[in-house]
Amino acid sequence: MSKPAFWLRCEKKEFERRAALTPTTAKKLIDAGFEIIVERDEQRIFDDSEYEAVGCKLVENNSWPSAPTSIPIIGLKELPASSDPIAQTHIQFAHCYKNQAGWSQVLARFHKGGGTLYDLEFLQDEQGRRVAAFGFHAGFAGAAAGALAVAARRQSKNLGQLEPYANEGEMVKDVKEKLGGSGKGVRALVIGALGRCGRGAVDLLRKIGLAEDDILKWDMAETAKGGPFSEILDVDIFVNCIYLSSSIPPFLTADQIRAAGKQRRLSVVVDVSCDTTNPFNPIPIYNINTTFSEPTVPVDVGPENPPLSVISIDHLPTLLPREASEQFSSDLLPSLLEFPNRKTARVWVEAEELFKRKLAEAVKAEGL
Ligand SMILES: NC(=O)c1ccc[n+]([C@@H]2O[C@H](COP(=O)([O-])OP(=O)(O)OC[C@H]3O[C@@H](n4cnc5c(N)ncnc54)[C@H](O)[C@@H]3O)[C@@H](O)[C@H]2O)c1
Repeated sequence: MSKPAFWLRCEKKEFERRAALTPTTAKKLIDAGFEIIVERDEQRIFDDSEYEAVGCKLVENNSWPSAPTSIPIIGLKELPASSDPIAQTHIQFAHCYKNQAGWSQVLARFHKGGGTLYDLEFLQDEQGRRVAAFGFHAGFAGAAAGALAVAARRQSKNLGQLEPYANEGEMVKDVKEKLGGSGKGVRALVIGALGRCGRGAVDLLRKIGLAEDDILKWDMAETAKGGPFSEILDVDIFVNCIYLSSSIPPFLTADQIRAAGKQRRLSVVVDVSCDTTNPFNPIPIYNINTTFSEPTVPVDVGPENPPLSVISIDHLPTLLPREASEQFSSDLLPSLLEFPNRKTARVWVEAEELFKRKLAEAVKAEGL
């Protein structure tokens, strides 16, 4: 019998440097008896040679369309738009299960080719929690961006373009340097502090040197009294990391900011949750997502009041591609090890059932 295998495809989405399988995870799979085939990819944060060194077989960039259909293809982001039939099994984020633009055309490709999609967003444990997600490094990078915005503000500037960092240490070093050697004296409030993103935000704030008392950590218990919260106005950085699931009173409002006048300490809001266009957005003081090239959007604070900006970047983990990939890939590993038993392993059975339901909806929508 041939060995079980995975084929790591290249990423074609611009600026995407992360990988679903890292050399570390690839080695663990190889040690467990898998064959790992890796497409050469200059965009990826990991060098091809790092995969080769742990025993992966290297193949040409973007050669998966001619891969044998028996080998599942693993990737991270959406495939480039196309109507070509897909015959393989793909494991990836496809963003086509929530009626996103073009969802039915994406699924139609699988229908036409007879392929299968296992969407990484919907691989869940028994409690319904995702087996692998990028939250921790989103919070970590978001808090770093917030601290950089505070540093820029100290020089009466806006935060300039953000670039991915080679690793976490480089990010921490840069933020500390820009803050004059340490974040000591900066005060921050993280809401959703017990979640994945929140824990990452708190970790960064500790690593750049904020005193423990200056990192306010709020979760459900602290917001139960209902917003808006005046405490937010008394910190330099507010990082929102909640998972919004229903309508809640706002945490912070434009009126509240104006009423605080010149006394306000708050200088940047980092909305990691990015429920920007959600009608229940608990931070209704901005309405666009910001980008690495323009990371902040100014808030209308009223005349002569100190400036306030919002960072609302929805792909923050891309700022730390190496660590974000390592964490995601290692969280995914137990499920990947179960893949050869996918017809009985709960996580894969449920993901396939969901795919079949969505495929049927797409077939109907496309009139196939
Ligand atoms: N901007 C990005 O790049 C990026 C990347 C990954 C995730 N996210 C988003 O970040 C959000 C959080 O993701 P996560 O993986 O950390 O979720 P999570 O479920 O691990 O954590 C969410 C936390 O929020 C808390 N919470 C929920 N409602 C709250 C409330 N009203 N008051 C106080 N605390 C509350 C929960 O108790 C939990 O501790 C999601 O919306 C996710 O889509 C953004």
